[in-house]
Amino acid sequence: MDLKQLERECLRRGVPIIGEEESQILEFFVELLRPKKVLELGTANGYSGIILGSEGAKLTTLEIDKKIAAEAKENFTKFNIDAKIIVGDALQTIKEVRGKFDIIFLDFTKRNYNKILPVLFEKLNNKGILIADDVLFDKCKDFKESVLSHPKLKTMFIRVGHGLSVSIKK
Ligand SMILES: C[S@@+](CC[C@H](N)C(=O)[O-])C[C@H]1O[C@@H](n2cnc3c(N)ncnc32)[C@H](O)[C@@H]1O
Repeated sequence: MDLKQLERECLRRGVPIIGEEESQILEFFVELLRPKKVLELGTANGYSGIILGSEGAKLTTLEIDKKIAAEAKENFTKFNIDAKIIVGDALQTIKEVRGKFDIIFLDFTKRNYNKILPVLFEKLNNKGILIADDVLFDKCKDFKESVLSHPKLKTMFIRVGHGLSVSIKK
């Protein structure tokens, strides 16, 4: 199976994966930065994680739903992704995550983006980037304000799908 086939399968089954343009943007950053360590919040069945780990990064990804996490595990094996999935509520399981990351991708419950931002900031390497999906939703208003006004983050918004924010740690 290739990634396009997986994408089609996810769309057919209604698995809520990132859109095509968002995927291309993730691919762009992964190829540009060649990250060694990536953290993702909101694994689903591993589609975006496969992109995040495609240049050989060690991926840590957090997912609340046991069943979909089991699918992600299979997909990571199929696509040779070096991934560790932590199952549970990311607001809790983030406490088990050690070390710092070159890319952090935020794609779980939107209302929790702002709540978890301070923890993620600490887990981001200097010059690392935090990418968040769906930031045009109202539920992300506080998050958007926080990343824009943060003295140690430089943020831009990309108008694709429901909006992506990209913040670099200064
Ligand atoms: C939009 S989907 C992720 C899609 C995935 N990033 C992709 O593009 O392939 C959001 C995922 O976040 C998970 N999720 C929701 N709340 C969560 C939480 N509190 N902790 C961890 N995962 C959560 C959902 O179960 C769902 O699988």
